[in-house]
Amino acid sequence: LNNKDEGELYVVTCQTGLEEILEKEIHDLGIERTTRGSSIVGFYGTAKDYYTVNMCVRTGLHVLKLLKSFRASDYDMLYYQARKINWHKLFDIGRSIRIDVKGKSRSLTNSQYVIHRIKDGIMDTFRKFFDSRRPDINKDDPDISIIAYLTDSEVKIYLDSSGQPLFKRGYRTEHGEAPIKEDLAAGIILLSGWDLKSDVLDPMCGAGTFLVEAYMIANNIPPNINRSFSFQNWFDYDENLFLATRESLKKRIVNSGVKFHGYEIDAKSFRISNEIMKKLKIEKSMDIKRGDFLKASGDFGGMFIVTNPPYDERLKMDDIKKLYKDLGDFLKQKCKNSNASVFTANLEAAKFVGLRTSAKIKLYNGPLEARLLKFEIY
Ligand SMILES: C[S@@+](CC[C@H](N)C(=O)[O-])C[C@H]1O[C@@H](n2cnc3c(N)ncnc32)[C@H](O)[C@@H]1O
Repeated sequence: LNNKDEGELYVVTCQTGLEEILEKEIHDLGIERTTRGSSIVGFYGTAKDYYTVNMCVRTGLHVLKLLKSFRASDYDMLYYQARKINWHKLFDIGRSIRIDVKGKSRSLTNSQYVIHRIKDGIMDTFRKFFDSRRPDINKDDPDISIIAYLTDSEVKIYLDSSGQPLFKRGYRTEHGEAPIKEDLAAGIILLSGWDLKSDVLDPMCGAGTFLVEAYMIANNIPPNINRSFSFQNWFDYDENLFLATRESLKKRIVNSGVKFHGYEIDAKSFRISNEIMKKLKIEKSMDIKRGDFLKASGDFGGMFIVTNPPYDERLKMDDIKKLYKDLGDFLKQKCKNSNASVFTANLEAAKFVGLRTSAKIKLYNGPLEARLLKFEIY
């Protein structure tokens, strides 16, 4: 990727294992020039493209704009290069900033000092033009977020166009036990091969993350259509372009008519799921019942089933085994002709589902290695 005529380079970060599906999402937005690395997908694009990517991608975390890449074998070179960036042309001196470091380098081993020297470079650039005034540092809620990626051969400095990570869609203010992150839930659904038409069932739906993400996928709703982004604090932010882009995305929302079913045994999680569906005004498409899915009377044949059963250490292994076995029996008996995706970080328990998997995909839930198990049930 080195043809600058086609726009500038942006990098979208994601959870390990979701790179391929994220790249497909970006292609589906009409952006063709992409590249894939470990936990990142790069693309060349225009302002409209990165506005669109921020609003639309379901599996991305941050959309970063590359400012500069250079070699720095010591901290003085790092400072000198950071100072060469025209920071004062990127954002107003009144904006607050935060600097983060990712990756590792044998020559720049002290990440606090890396931050310190980049900060000096930024502040000295501003000082040169504004006497002794300089931007404030704000670690909790900065207007501008700067990220340095280190490798042994180079340093890359990015501006984070997203700000808050993109899994924060704004619909979840409270969560139940062991929630799954929104980007991972969406990634699992996109990897599942769901036809986007069959009804959806999550038999252990917790706060309803799978159901909300599936709803947005089926109806082509960009997950972050109503959010704000850090690029709105940049000098080159084009509000008219942003609003026009957002309007055109809203016009592409459809009404799929798909229904979403859930069971949840825990009172608090059930309450939270109800609150989320009401807040999003999607409760009419949802049929979430409080109770044990194993006692459900209905038939769920032909549905798309997606769930992450409990796997935490607080439950006894025997109980976990039984739950996974019961889930397997439930799928066999009540979910004929369906496509089921079960996500778990308990690889031992997963064996007790007792059905032949059509695919096993390695993913992570935070630091825990996990599997997405796919089943085709006849
Ligand atoms: C790992 S959590 C799922 C989290 C969910 N994906 C979310 O995003 O909030 C597992 C959930 O299964 C529920 N659960 C466990 N056994 C159940 C059963 N037999 N019937 C219904 N729900 C059950 C638990 O209460 C818990 O909320």
